[in-house]
Amino acid sequence: MLKELWQSERSARQLQGFVVANERVSDAIYLLDVFIPKRFIEVRAGQFLMLKAGLASDPLLNRPFSIHNVSFEKDGMHVWVLYLVKRVGTTLLTQKRPSDKIDLIIPLGNSFFSYLDLDALKDLILVAGGIGVAPYYLFMNKVRKCCPNVKPKLFYGAKDAPSLYKRWIDESMFSEIIYATDNGSYGFKGNIIAALYHYLGQHQAVYNKNKLTIISCGSINMLYKLNMMLDKTKIDHIVSLEGPMGCGMGLCLGCVIESRDGSYVKLCQHGPIFKSNEILWEKLPFLNLS
Ligand SMILES: Cc1cc2nc3c(=O)[nH]c(=O)nc-3n(C[C@H](O)[C@H](O)[C@H](O)COP(=O)(O)OP(=O)(O)OC[C@H]3O[C@@H](n4cnc5c(N)ncnc54)[C@H](O)[C@@H]3O)c2cc1C
Ligand code: FES
Repeated sequence: MLKELWQSERSARQLQGFVVANERVSDAIYLLDVFIPKRFIEVRAGQFLMLKAGLASDPLLNRPFSIHNVSFEKDGMHVWVLYLVKRVGTTLLTQKRPSDKIDLIIPLGNSFFSYLDLDALKDLILVAGGIGVAPYYLFMNKVRKCCPNVKPKLFYGAKDAPSLYKRWIDESMFSEIIYATDNGSYGFKGNIIAALYHYLGQHQAVYNKNKLTIISCGSINMLYKLNMMLDKTKIDHIVSLEGPMGCGMGLCLGCVIESRDGSYVKLCQHGPIFKSNEILWEKLPFLNLS
């Protein structure tokens, strides 16, 4: 029965859910648990949803968030969102209380598995910068079920120790975890790209022989710099690209970017997951390196 429902609920739907919990889990990070009654929607790791942060028309636009986790009960499903408080929309989200109604559109975008062949995978590294860690919980749950032999390494960086959100991490699922903080208060001192650079340098001989895949998620500037570092290597680099979105559903053209083959793609529909070498990084309209 559940399987039949899943099969009929793969495309995006505009729904109303109820807040179950909205907990501050570290510095400026909150974990939102929304229950959607009578829905059993299949969600793939890397997909996102659009949330209405306020009550009325301010702010008008929904906000995009990675789907952190989902679980199913007899009478509906839970969806979790891990969010960093930034400006108006995310500040309003912190005011949501248990049993408040919340509008959402789910599921949207493609998945990490659009680009990954787990059976053929030799070495996998997940790189997370700050809140970029959000989609990896669902990803690792899927990996645990389908391919328990795949044990990625996790590189997770944040500005300082209180900004790291470690509760979701089951260490037994990773072959190694490397933390980095800008101020050195936990793990490697420096950003997560420097930590990865250091690590790859030390293991160069291994990765010259074995095929390595890196998945990265974080701020656009971090992803840009990581692409610069990996572009000329043989490493497969898959990115989850967070850019500004208006509708999230392919209607407003607010998220169009240029790809390396000269075509234009919509972040919300063709992404947010891309092969790094598909993107024309220098022309990303929301890249700000100043
Ligand atoms: C596919 C995707 C997944 C994301 N997943 C997460 C997540 O799991 N957790 C999390 O905390 N944040 C995530 N973000 C970023 C999040 O959408 C923004 O931080 C949030 O929209 C900021 O809203 P605001 O009103 O507080 O800030 P404002 O800056 O006031 O937002 C103004 C507008 O700009 C857009 N915007 C601004 N910055 C971004 C940005 N970096 N990315 C996308 N849109 C932006 C918003 O859509 C909004 O319409 C994701 C973004 C995308 C595109
Ligand atoms: S956000 Fe509207 S088309 Fe992509």
